[in-house]
Amino acid sequence: MFTVAIISAAGGSGRSTLAANLASLLAQRGMPPFALEFDPQNLLATLLGSEAPPDDGLLTDFMGNKPFGASALCNSDNVGFLPFGHANKQDAAGFEQQLRSTPGWLRNCLAQIDFADDTILLIDTPRLPSIHACQAVEAADLVLSVLMPDVRSMTLLPAAQATALTDCGRQKPLLHVINALDSTREHHNRLAAELRARLRQDLVPEIVHRDTAIAQALANSVSVIDASPDSLVVHDMNGVVNALLARRAAASGKACQCHA
Ligand SMILES: Nc1ncnc2c1ncn2[C@@H]1O[C@H](COP(=O)(O)OP(=O)(O)OP(=O)(O)O)[C@@H](O)[C@H]1O
Ligand SMILES: [Mg+2]
Repeated sequence: MFTVAIISAAGGSGRSTLAANLASLLAQRGMPPFALEFDPQNLLATLLGSEAPPDDGLLTDFMGNKPFGASALCNSDNVGFLPFGHANKQDAAGFEQQLRSTPGWLRNCLAQIDFADDTILLIDTPRLPSIHACQAVEAADLVLSVLMPDVRSMTLLPAAQATALTDCGRQKPLLHVINALDSTREHHNRLAAELRARLRQDLVPEIVHRDTAIAQALANSVSVIDASPDSLVVHDMNGVVNALLARRAAASGKACQCHA
């Protein structure tokens, strides 16, 4: 298994959108993905085709003393996923307390699940700082940091770097991706060029463009890959998949099967 924690210090950067769509693209390539929502927002299922956020998920399993993963689902695109589940304030606070008092809780839970060896696990997280994100980073082989081409992401970049490199106990390989670039905006292009110069090989070469195909697909409860397979954003996200597979291959010493 290769585990990727998707993080960002700025809210609304596209973490959940990427988690869902990268998982769908992996499934389309015949690779087994699993998307784990480690975010009390409980929205990932709706990005994977569910009409409404499910009540059941990892939080309700935890509260009901069920095994981790008991509420896992699989969508029509063959994407396995585990929603967070509906959380009232008290349950959410109790779970957060569990995470704070048990470092490595998520890593230990994941170790109990019998994933296929070649599974790529994508973990969606709340924006930083967050104990959920920290546990995801601690469980990950690679941290994918999502940046928007804006001043907020630029300013918060050190926070994302510190999360992967120092704050969560173990130093993890870090890869950044720029999401939602509007190439008609001069300042987007300028900030993207600045990030490229600063991050070099730690940045996915393909930038994910802002594309209305995402909202259209969401409105119809279908994946953007099914709705607009030839869209720019699907092309860009395939580039992100390639970058993840290249990192996985580098980590395992095997050759990369990085073609769409
Ligand atoms: N490349 C893109 N093109 C167009 N819209 C996008 C793109 N990426 C994300 N969005 C939209 O931006 C919004 C925020 O995306 P998303 O929910 O994935 O971000 P997030 O980082 O998970 O946010 P949160 O901090 O709320 O968890 C959503 O409405 C999503 O549809
Ligand atoms: Mg999200």
